[in-house]
Amino acid sequence: MRLDKMLSECGIATRSETARAARAGKITVNGLPVSRPDCKVDPEKDEVFYCGVRAVYQRFLYLMLNKPDGYVSATEDGRDPTVLELLPEEYRTRGLFPCGRLDKHTLGLMLLTNDGVLSHRLLAPKSHVTKTYAFRVKFPLSEEDVTSLEGGVDIGGYLTKPCTVELTDPKEGYISITEGKYHQIKLMLQAVHNQITYLERVSFGPLTLDPSLARGEWRPLTEEELKTLQKEARMPENP
Ligand code: URA
Repeated sequence: MRLDKMLSECGIATRSETARAARAGKITVNGLPVSRPDCKVDPEKDEVFYCGVRAVYQRFLYLMLNKPDGYVSATEDGRDPTVLELLPEEYRTRGLFPCGRLDKHTLGLMLLTNDGVLSHRLLAPKSHVTKTYAFRVKFPLSEEDVTSLEGGVDIGGYLTKPCTVELTDPKEGYISITEGKYHQIKLMLQAVHNQITYLERVSFGPLTLDPSLARGEWRPLTEEELKTLQKEARMPENP
């Protein structure tokens, strides 16, 4: 990888800053100064220092995003803005993608990563990762509605798995599901003759939406969050 690309992807310096620093002899690779910003480095093996600061390259990125309304869970879309467009430029070339889908008008917790193995494991139906959503509906829900939803309802010929519903008001509450069929919650509420008017994912497995993130804001997962997520996905431990 080119040195300037590496430093830009580490969020340390723009390409022009790297060019300037290299000319000034302020960048070293494995202890030796380099003058060319386009020299090739191995970002995972070479020791790169920029103005005395070690550049640490992370191959895999894990970001928590608070998805705003109107953005689609895709890497590209001809019509609507995508969640990837909420990230700064240096993240656009890192192969990030949303781990699971949220509908265009669903808000809240979304994991973005370029770790295909972790993502695949978290989304595999047999993983049964619990996703909790805050919701609001158009009409009050009865006890029978809640019992039906919890026991499983027919959504287009598919019987949903048992889930939990906690009402905080006859028209509001939390629903936790362990699967992820297309439009699942909307269709479940339709199955009990109701209509979702607000949907926000508040947790995904062990991750809970960071209340300090405003809509559209993101941050890297903490080490602890990543560890719990890897455990949830039953990823092999690092040696
Ligand atoms: N279920 C839905 O209906 N929509 C979402 O975005 C997520 C779950």
